[in-house]
Amino acid sequence: MTRDMTGETTAELEWKGRTGPFTIRVNPGVFAPTHTSRTIAEALEIAPGDTVIDVGCGSGVLSFVAARLGAARVIGCDISGEAVEVARGNARLLGLEDRVEFRVGSLLDPVRGERANVIIGDVSGIPDEIAEVSGWFPDGRAGGPTGAELPAAMLESIRENDCLAPGGRLYLPTGTIQNESRILEVARRIFGAANLQSLLSREFPLPDVVARSKAVARMMKEGVLDLHARGSRLLWRLQVWRCEMPPPGARQLPAV
Ligand SMILES: C[S@@+](CC[C@H](N)C(=O)[O-])C[C@H]1O[C@@H](n2cnc3c(N)ncnc32)[C@H](O)[C@@H]1O
Repeated sequence: MTRDMTGETTAELEWKGRTGPFTIRVNPGVFAPTHTSRTIAEALEIAPGDTVIDVGCGSGVLSFVAARLGAARVIGCDISGEAVEVARGNARLLGLEDRVEFRVGSLLDPVRGERANVIIGDVSGIPDEIAEVSGWFPDGRAGGPTGAELPAAMLESIRENDCLAPGGRLYLPTGTIQNESRILEVARRIFGAANLQSLLSREFPLPDVVARSKAVARMMKEGVLDLHARGSRLLWRLQVWRCEMPPPGARQLPAV
């Protein structure tokens, strides 16, 4: 543990996922990489020379994985100014400042006017009430009432800002711990059903404090969550999708 210039306690963390091991720093107010981060990293397909946008970059970990896989340029963005500061520090630590930059702002607004061929779309997607019980989001920014609202807004933001080139790929995590069908409905409308492919699927146990919460029981009853039991544990399933952007003429019209 060290203290930065603002007096925040900074912890060093060893990333053991794809392209690791490497060390990054996180503050208590910044999202620390999880199983989800590791699974997305495993699914990423980066070609040398790719331009990558990492939306919801947090500490910057997936931006660094993309750079280490050969991306020519990576722009990470996050609504949290603290996360962006931490990510910039991590880029310096890893000697990646020449290829990786970070910007503050909501969704794809900070990259308006940029065109990427890869987007990593890992914004918060856990229902607000579950996030509160779990403590997974240190700054309290979760995914909305069903966990689908923020990811769905991110998909719309990709379309509105036109920042994914035709043939470009979005890597999108979804899970049964959120209203997954709502997110996939929006993704199918924007990318076309034939352009969505599930690349990876993993199951994880829910921590007991979350599994036993009233919010989980209610949302399961309402059909928002689709968890299943194994022994005494409740499991959720994470999927990582590749969503390929069709050429402009083949795109779906926005819903009215
Ligand atoms: C699940 S964390 C993922 C962080 C990082 N990708 C990782 O794997 O460690 C989601 C991130 O989305 C950010 N976020 C929340 N709302 C956002 C918004 N409206 N626009 C951009 N980022 C947002 C949070 O600050 C958080 O850093």
